[in-house]
Amino acid sequence: MGTTIRAWQGDITTLAVDAIVNAANSSLLGGGGVDGAIHRAAGPELRAHCAGLGGCPTGEARITPGFRLPARHVIHTVGPVWRGGQDGEAAALAACYRNSLQLAAAHALRTLALPAISCGAYGFPLQEAARIAVTECRAAAERYPSLEEIVLVAFDPQLKATLDDALA
Ligand code: APR
Repeated sequence: MGTTIRAWQGDITTLAVDAIVNAANSSLLGGGGVDGAIHRAAGPELRAHCAGLGGCPTGEARITPGFRLPARHVIHTVGPVWRGGQDGEAAALAACYRNSLQLAAAHALRTLALPAISCGAYGFPLQEAARIAVTECRAAAERYPSLEEIVLVAFDPQLKATLDDALA
């Protein structure tokens, strides 16, 4: 059957998938944007659990339980801050997707939803981020047959259109 990769517009915290990916910061102790939404929905146990992980470098990923979320797990990844594109930002963003997908496969997770990592506070240009996301998801679908569904989540119509274009 292979892996389904699709774009969906809405709030990632509502998805009852095996894991949702969080666009975190290196402390893993929460923040604004999707990080804030995920921590609010998961409840205080998430932050308490993350406090024991010792942070996460940019480009890497860490898995935790989902606690009060409908998702079973949260995979936290730290995207690059966009500094104009000459500072290894594209490679770091690709690593976020690659490491998050690898961690999901390592835990035999079948369904996964990912937000537009770095496209909010971290300022990464949407079109290039969408291209990177689709490229890494397609590579992971080839590498990990256990992945059944990958959902790229847009929080607004512009990003949804950008993701649909990248998937076309
Ligand atoms: N569901 C899905 N997507 C969301 C949600 C949500 N509930 N809330 C926000 N988004 C989208 C934003 O619209 C954006 O497209 O997630 C994308 C990522 O934006 P940010 O959350 O700002 O993440 P990022 O750009 O990676 O910046 C990370 O912001 O919140 C802090 O602690 C976080 O320091 C870190 C930084």
